Amino acid sequence: MSANNAFHIAVLGGDGIGPEVMRETIRALRALPLDIEIEEHPFGGPGIREFGEPLPAPTLEACLRSDAVMLAAVGSPEYERAEVRPEQGLLHIRRELGVYANLRPVRDDGVDLMIVRELSGGLYYGRKGRLTDGMAFDICEYHPWQIERIARRAFQLARGRRKRLTLADKHGVLETSTLWREVVDEVATEFPDVEADAMLVDNAAMQLVRDPGRFDVLLTENTFGDILSDVAAVATGGVGLAPSASLGESRPGIFEPIHGSAPDIAGKGIANPVATLRSAVLMLRYGLELPDEARLLDEAVDETLVTLSTPDLGGTATTSEFGDALVDVLAAR
Ligand code: IPM
Ligand code: MG
Repeated sequence: MSANNAFHIAVLGGDGIGPEVMRETIRALRALPLDIEIEEHPFGGPGIREFGEPLPAPTLEACLRSDAVMLAAVGSPEYERAEVRPEQGLLHIRRELGVYANLRPVRDDGVDLMIVRELSGGLYYGRKGRLTDGMAFDICEYHPWQIERIARRAFQLARGRRKRLTLADKHGVLETSTLWREVVDEVATEFPDVEADAMLVDNAAMQLVRDPGRFDVLLTENTFGDILSDVAAVATGGVGLAPSASLGESRPGIFEPIHGSAPDIAGKGIANPVATLRSAVLMLRYGLELPDEARLLDEAVDETLVTLSTPDLGGTATTSEFGDALVDVLAAR
């Protein structure tokens, strides 16, 4: 880290469309009135190719030293059946940085909801393996403290919003869901001003499609949150628009779009950079505590979307044309 007061941002482009959408995001960040130092590092497929692992040690060290990590996308058909896969790097970096609160805001006409996905437990990090008879297992594990800290965070967020919180779970079937209800009920007593209820996850998926405007904060465990956030995104503006912030107790957080690496359109220059740009907005707001700069970038993205969009939204703009227009909007402000 250098001696100046600049914010240090570690940038991981990753796989597929990742580097393309990240390029435009870096340009936009550099166009802001902000002192930042950006360092790019190999991650995912590029990490495997250069260092033999998706999260190479120098990349992890740089991330640990940074104020925030911007990440674009991981996953590649090339590694689908390989022992070492890009996605493992994502699980690894989330664990190493201790991020457990994954905020996935969804905005659309009449919709303003915040999915709060637990990111450190459940099936993703539980015991897993194969038995000699060929059976495979992934155990869904949660400690009360893991639920308590994310629930408190979700209630705090609700308090600053419309003061409504819905827990999505599979109560009646899963023991972990019963624990979630117990702990969330207990945390709820600290927030009497927030109206809390619980909903079965399959019903929550249906309600997200039918009437997403009914939700304010939607709290859920890791796997359910992964799925519900994609459902919520397509039910509103599309996955090309949906960002996320992964936060721990302190910096650095990880800021990444919820979409994948989209290998089918990688290299064509038509990927929508908006989800990554909105993730940069979340980085400025939650990761660096720069609300004015966050608003500036957010509004500039809104303004750019009025005049052009990429093919996933019915437009004809290329990724870099969108970036050009955005930089022009920022320069005019
Ligand atoms: C996401 C992604 C990841 C996840 C994958 C790439 C491991 O789908 O961030 O939603 O499941 O968490
Ligand atoms: Mg996902």
